[in-house]
Amino acid sequence: MRKTTIVEMLKNAGENFISGESIAGKLGISRTAVWKHIQTLRNSGYEILSSERRGYKLKDAPDLLLPSEIQIGLDTEILGKEMDYHPSVDSTNRLAKKLAYHGAAEGTIVVAEEQTGGKGRLERGFYSPRGKGIWFSVILHPNFSPHDAPKFTLMAAVAVAEAMARFKLKAEIKWPNDIMHDGRKLVGILTEMTGEIGKITYLVTGIGINVNISREEFPEELRDIATSLSELNGGEKISRVYFLRAVLEEFDKLYREVNAAGFDKVIDRWRK
Ligand code: BTN
Repeated sequence: MRKTTIVEMLKNAGENFISGESIAGKLGISRTAVWKHIQTLRNSGYEILSSERRGYKLKDAPDLLLPSEIQIGLDTEILGKEMDYHPSVDSTNRLAKKLAYHGAAEGTIVVAEEQTGGKGRLERGFYSPRGKGIWFSVILHPNFSPHDAPKFTLMAAVAVAEAMARFKLKAEIKWPNDIMHDGRKLVGILTEMTGEIGKITYLVTGIGINVNISREEFPEELRDIATSLSELNGGEKISRVYFLRAVLEEFDKLYREVNAAGFDKVIDRWRK
């Protein structure tokens, strides 16, 4: 089982302080090590109060897709055990392919707050502004033939649609890799593969989800062809942390199903 983290302990303590000694005891580390972790968390944007007598208390957590946020209570078996987080990258797919080439584990997630060179299909770009969406890639080593690689895109689309259903949002999946609403694109998916004859070596499935982008915030040329989850939600923001967790959980479930029994069920769901 995954070890509880300092962030989880601080969150569980709610309005109360939690002593450095008790954190140190639970994690089996020194109080100085606890203090160093707290400093690192502060540097990533957590507001943590400290009092010599009472210990530490969480005042505010940043609205970021940090592993320390995503992994709390994440109910997956394969996805997200390893997460590579970046405030900014050119493309999470590009980075994920590099990590996969160097042996990154199955289920590793690369996530960024913004992409400066987000990649779409057919050498197109993908608009990925900071803090407004979920731009991430999953590294997989599936035991399938390269011929099956495109089916992982369909599987990813079903995973996002199921996550949307959890938030009572309705998705339309458009062949082959877009999720739309009223003819406007909400989500783009790009699967890239490296393999040899008959066997996938690794696969990177990149998913870009427009989460909290209002119509006016889209660049003019995208305004009539793109939309976001918050627009579907009547202008109310959606928590990127909760939504990413939901996608990872749905993706993990489908991936395990596909590994055990092939793609038939997923393709049925995709058709629906
Ligand atoms: C498309 O619509 O043509 C596919 C878009 C895929 C975008 C995602 S965002 C995360 C990942 N990193 C990329 O550079 N692209 C994918």
